[in-house]
Amino acid sequence: MSMELITNIGMLATPQGKGPKKGAEQGAIQILKNAWVVIQDGAIIGVGEGPLPQNFDGIELSTITPIDAEGKLVTPGLVDAHTHLIFGGWRQNELGLKLHGKTYLEIQNAGGGIQSTTNATRKATEEELTQKAKKALDEMMGFGVTTCEAKSGYGLATEHERKALQVIQNLNECHPIDLVATFMGAHLVPAEYKTNRAEYIRLVCEEMMPVVKEQGIAKFCDVFCEADTFTVEESRQVLEAGLKYGLRPKIHADEIEAIGGSVLAGEIGAISAEHLIVCPPEGIESLAKGGVVACLLPATSFYLGAGFAPARDMVNAGVPVAMASDFNPGSCPCLNLQFVINLGCLKYKLTPEEVLTAVTLNAAAAIDLADRVGSVEPGKQADLVIWDAPDLDYICYRMGSNLVQTVIKKGVVVR
Ligand code: NIG
Ligand code: FE
Repeated sequence: MSMELITNIGMLATPQGKGPKKGAEQGAIQILKNAWVVIQDGAIIGVGEGPLPQNFDGIELSTITPIDAEGKLVTPGLVDAHTHLIFGGWRQNELGLKLHGKTYLEIQNAGGGIQSTTNATRKATEEELTQKAKKALDEMMGFGVTTCEAKSGYGLATEHERKALQVIQNLNECHPIDLVATFMGAHLVPAEYKTNRAEYIRLVCEEMMPVVKEQGIAKFCDVFCEADTFTVEESRQVLEAGLKYGLRPKIHADEIEAIGGSVLAGEIGAISAEHLIVCPPEGIESLAKGGVVACLLPATSFYLGAGFAPARDMVNAGVPVAMASDFNPGSCPCLNLQFVINLGCLKYKLTPEEVLTAVTLNAAAAIDLADRVGSVEPGKQADLVIWDAPDLDYICYRMGSNLVQTVIKKGVVVR
C-alpha cells in the first residue's frame, strides 16, 4: 500500500461530481483554504480543510512524508479533451500564406492544410510518430495536463489510420498522461478520392471502422462537418456507422460556417461537439436538448483570427462547456492549456470558476472520464497540479508564463 499526503495547500479549487456541470453549476466549485489531500495507491481517499488530523481513516498521517504545497494553489490535473496529437511534419509555410490573406479553407482547397499533413503522416513510421507525439505530451504535462484525448485523422487510409491509433496506444502505455483515442477517418476526403466522395465515405464506414473496432483502441468517432469538407448528411452517415461499431460520436461543428453540425450533434446524442465558433441559437438549443458537452477551442479562434464561440449563451442555455487546446499543425499549433484558460476569461468572459470546470470536470465528461478524473475528491484518481500561484484568479490573469510548479499523476510526482 502506498500513501501520499499533500499538506499546506493555500487554496484548493475544484469542481465536484462525476458528471458534466451546466448552467450556474458550472461556476459553483469548491474552494478550500489551508487544505490537505490524502492519497492511497494512486487514488484520493481524503480531502480536508484546516489543521491536519493526526489520524485519517486509521492511518497515522505523521508517518507519511508529505508533499508541501507551500501555501499555493492546487487544482485537479488539467484534461485536454481535444487534440490532433498524431501527425507528421509541421505547416509553418502556411503562416506566410495566411498573412497574405489566404483563408484556412483556401489553403486546404489548394492542397495545403490537412492534405499536406496527411502526406507527411503517411510517410512517417509508427516509431517516428510515437517519438514526435511523446515530445508534445511531455510539453503538455509540463503545462499541467494529466489526461488527454488524441485523434487519428491524418492517415485517411486504413493502414495509416490504424497506425495513428496504434501510436496513441503505445504512448498510453509508456507516458504518465492518460490518453483516450478518437478515430477521425472523416477529417477530409483525401486527394485520391476527390472525385468520388461517396467511395471514401464507404471506405471509412465499411473498411476502416471494422479494423478500428477489431484493434480496440478508439472510444470515439469524430467527423469534420464543415463547408468543403463533410456535409451534415455525410457526417450523420459516418457517426451512425461509428455507433454500430461502438464508437461514441463527436463532431467538429460550426468552426467556420454554420452548416448544421451542432444541430446534428444534439439529434444524434453526440458526447461532445467541438469548436462551435459560429454556433447559431438553434444549435445551442439542440446541444442543450441532446445533453451534449460543448468543447470550445479558443486558441484555434485566436490563431485563425476568427470570432469566439458564444460560451456565455451556452452556459445560460444549460449546455456544459468544456475547453481544450485543439493542438494540431494547422489551425492551432499550440498545446498550452494555460493560454486556453486565459482566453476563456478574456474572450469568452467566463469566470475563473467556470473556466476551471471547463478544463477539468467538463473536459473529462467530454471524453467519458468524469467518474475517474477532473476533480479532487475521494474516489477520484490522484491527478493534481500545484501551481506557483496563490489563488485561482492568478492563473487566469497571468499570461505567457508557465505557472505549473508540480504535477502529480496517480499520486506520483511526474514533474
Ligand atoms: O480542429 N478542423 C479540423 N481539424 C483541425 C485542423 C486540422 C488541420 O488544419 O490540420 C481543427 O481545427
Ligand atoms: Fe480539431
